[in-house]
Amino acid sequence: MDSTSSDISTPTRTPNPKQAQSPSDFTFRCPDATDGAAVFQLVRDCKPLDENSMYCNLLQCSHFSSTSIAAEANGQLAGFISGYRLPEQPDTLFVWQVAVHPDFRGKRLATQMLETLLRRIGDVHYLHTTITPDNLASWNTFRRLAQDLGATLNSQTFFDKDAHFGGVHDSEELVVIGPF
Ligand SMILES: CC(C)(COP(=O)(O)OP(=O)(O)OC[C@H]1O[C@@H](n2cnc3c(N)ncnc32)[C@H](O)[C@@H]1OP(=O)(O)O)[C@@H](O)C(=O)NCCC(=O)NCCS
Repeated sequence: MDSTSSDISTPTRTPNPKQAQSPSDFTFRCPDATDGAAVFQLVRDCKPLDENSMYCNLLQCSHFSSTSIAAEANGQLAGFISGYRLPEQPDTLFVWQVAVHPDFRGKRLATQMLETLLRRIGDVHYLHTTITPDNLASWNTFRRLAQDLGATLNSQTFFDKDAHFGGVHDSEELVVIGPF
């Protein structure tokens, strides 16, 4: 179960990887509005994620706090997932972005955040997300999750490069995991 306490009274927002080398060093909690600026910077550090406005990150951390998760290492933001329930399918979590600071990758942090978030929410049976075809790390992260959940993973084009993005952004595949 997540800790929802916010023991970040003196937050330093620059990760120091030397102080967090093992998965057990991470703590997980619901984000709040004071995380918005750090999330904005984290996403900037996580290419190829699309950058949103800081205002958007503030909304993710406040209105969507209960379906999002922040991971800390020594009080610093190491990872973040923004998500929300599909308005017409509340048993489905839509994962908007997964971001793990480059200094903390390869430690199963994305996997731990996803699994901790699903445990915390409790009553969702499907997960949707979108992935560009060439983002291998992302595909492998969600394949691992599906495997761990014992659920099937299907995908199909959702937002097309030309039809939806005006040719300026790669197509996004809709990934559907579930039921679980
Ligand atoms: C994608 C990302 C979130 C993965 O974070 P992470 O904490 O390093 O991922 P994990 O350690 O939990 O690994 C999950 C799985 O993906 C695989 N994986 C992770 N990074 C990978 C890479 N660069 N290339 C290939 N596979 C990779 C892992 O091997 C693991 O699979 P396995 O359990 O079958 O071995 C991170 O690289 C990131 O923030 N990237 C930039 C932002 C982005 O593209 N986000 C997309 C949403 S997932």
